[in-house]
Order: sequence, then C-alpha cells, then structure tokens
Amino acid sequence: MSLYQAILDETAPDGMRLTTTKLVDRNTVWQLESSSGFAAKVTQGRAAIFTCKKAAALTLDALSECCAPFGVGEAVECDESQYILAIGLLDDAELMVLATEAGADVVASPVEFSPTSDDVRSIVGTLDDYYFGYEDRYRTVYENGAHLWESEEPNASLLQMMQERPDVFSGHIIDLGCGEGRDSLYLLSQGHTVVSVDVSHSALDRARERATAANLDASGFMERDIIYLRGFDENSFDLAMNMGCLHMLVDEDQRARHISRVYDIVRPGGYFIVDHCASEWGKGFFSIPDYEEVATGLVPGRVIPRKIRVADGEKNIDLEVLPFSERSGDALAEEISRYGFSLVNSTYTNTEAFGSSTMLLFQKPASGKQTS
Ligand SMILES: C[S@@+](CC[C@H](N)C(=O)[O-])C[C@H]1O[C@@H](n2cnc3c(N)ncnc32)[C@H](O)[C@@H]1O
Repeated sequence: MSLYQAILDETAPDGMRLTTTKLVDRNTVWQLESSSGFAAKVTQGRAAIFTCKKAAALTLDALSECCAPFGVGEAVECDESQYILAIGLLDDAELMVLATEAGADVVASPVEFSPTSDDVRSIVGTLDDYYFGYEDRYRTVYENGAHLWESEEPNASLLQMMQERPDVFSGHIIDLGCGEGRDSLYLLSQGHTVVSVDVSHSALDRARERATAANLDASGFMERDIIYLRGFDENSFDLAMNMGCLHMLVDEDQRARHISRVYDIVRPGGYFIVDHCASEWGKGFFSIPDYEEVATGLVPGRVIPRKIRVADGEKNIDLEVLPFSERSGDALAEEISRYGFSLVNSTYTNTEAFGSSTMLLFQKPASGKQTS
C-alpha cells in the first residue's frame, strides 16, 4: 500500500507510527520534516500547506508557488528531499502524520525565518479569505436562525435535466460544491450513489444531519476542494455535476485546474453537468427579492441585505458579496470543451437558486484525451 493510501485510510504499515500534530493557532508557522519521506493529512480544521524543497532558498515567490489549502481528509506526501510548512486556518487544525520508514519520526516545530512568518501569513491571507468566506456565510445564516441557506428542494434545473436525460444519472455520481446537499440528498433518495464535496464544514454538517434524518447514507459528504479534487481516482465517476459552484471560481487558473481534474476523474463516456450564472448575478435569487435595489452593490467584498428563511417566516441579514463570475452559454461551452469534453446540450435556465444561468451537459469522449 502506498504511503498516501495508508494515511488516507489511517492505517500504519508494520513498524510505522501515525502521530498527530496540532497547529495550535492561526499565527504560528509549523515546520514538519523527517529524515525519511512522510505523508500528512488534515484531520481537523483547515490548513495552508507549503511543500518545500530542503535544498531551496525560501523566497516569497517560491512560497507563493508551493502553497495550497487542505481541508479535512485531504493528504499530502513528501519525499526525503522535501518538508512542509503548515498554518492552521480554522481553530484547532490538526494534522495526522506518517513517516515512510520504520523508526523515522516526523518532527514538528514552530519556525521563524526569512521571509518572516508575517510574509508567509500574507500569502495565506488570500486563501483564508476565500475559504473562510463560505464557512462564515453559512455560519452567519445559521446563527441568525435559518435552518438552511439554500432551499430544501433540489435545483429546478437539475430536475429538468433528469427528466430530459434520465440515462445520464446512473452509476457513481459526484456533486461538486454540494453546499447543504439539496441535489445530493434528492439523488440519494432516488437510490443513486453519490459523493458530495464542499469546503464549508457547517454546510456539510447540515447536509449530513439531513441525510441521517432521512435515513440516507451521510458518509459520502466530504470536505474537498473542487479546484484540486485530491484523493479521487482517475476515471472513477460516471457523472460529475457542478451546480452553481464553478461560477464561484473567478481565477482562470483555478477554473482550468478544476475542469481538467473533473475530466480526469470522469470515466471515458461519462458526463459533466454545469449550471453556471450567465448574467446579472443575483437577479431572481430567493435571497435578493429586489435586484434593482442592490444591483450596484453586487461587488465582491461589499455587504448587502440578503433574505433568509427562519422558523416564523423570512428575515433580512447583512452578508458580504463573495466573488462570482458570469459567462454566456457559448463562452462556457468553449471554455469547458477546451479540456476535452464535448458539448451535448445547452439550456438557458432561470431559477431562484442561480437566476439567469446556463445548464450545460458535456460528455467525455469514449476513448482518449482530446485537447486543443
Ligand atoms: C452557490 S453554492 C451552491 C451549492 C449547491 N450546489 C446548491 O445548489 O445548493 C456554491 C457552493 O460552492 C462551495 N465552494 C466554493 N468554492 C469551493 C471549492 N473550491 N471547493 C469546494 N466547494 C466550494 C461553497 O461552499 C458553496 O457551498
């Protein structure tokens, strides 16, 4: 068994030891290294992990290049020429570590160096803002008395696609950016096998609670980043669906990484469904009853009133606008086709979830990778 698989399964091969390191606070940079290689997995919270070369100088540019966010269940592996720097992004972040060789230990210690920890924290700040933005939004909504941010019902556009192309919904399905699980729960209730991923702990907790309450399997709800989709095998899904999550990615590199990872994990002949905002993001959303009133404030970082559902009706709360992107159906079809998918169908939709959007169905060619 590979070290990566061993840490994912949390089973130490003979003579090796799994140990745990707490990334005690968000202000300390931790260095983890071993005379042998090692693997580390986030078991609690969220961490920014830098995979560094022992021989290389630590410049800010090099650090920016090697930094990536890791959520619960995501693992990283280093060989003996590498070490990692880690910072907890959520309270009580914890890493489980496993050294490659029996008898070798992984040493974890707080470090100060040049570039300074403050420099490193500035790199991590952007990551932190992105991921914490979602977690914070769901938490704020729940603290204000809403049971859910999104509706309980599955997306209308998904139901339409299921009616038109029932053949596409078969086998092993992955829901990318599942939120509180409205689509996954519906598919599970229809007997489908679904893995559901999101970056928000709180939204995933709600999804698991809802699954348990409905006697459905809650084990498929996992914290994973759709940009990396770590730990999923190539060709392992029959259908991948991205319902309103790709339009939350604004960085072209991140979008590219996401689409090409989806291509990898979908089997030849398998499908990819994308529901993506086309224009006037926010118009028609349940949470934005008067679009004209807030239209000029729909700028990432600004705070606007949003409507939530509470026990005795509805309520307005202030929420920050998170980054979003808009694409015409044609532009999106061109973008996704670039990674090898073939467009099967494109439908304009207007739903209370995503407003003016395009629902696209793609297929991975039955053989070989096509790239332009
Ligand atoms: C507009 S919501 C849609 C949620 C769900 N698909 C639905 O229709 O209710 C977008 C979701 O994407 C998640 N998200 C954003 N960026 C992500 C990333 N890089 N990896 C995984 N999930 C992400 C957010 O936490 C949020 O739950």
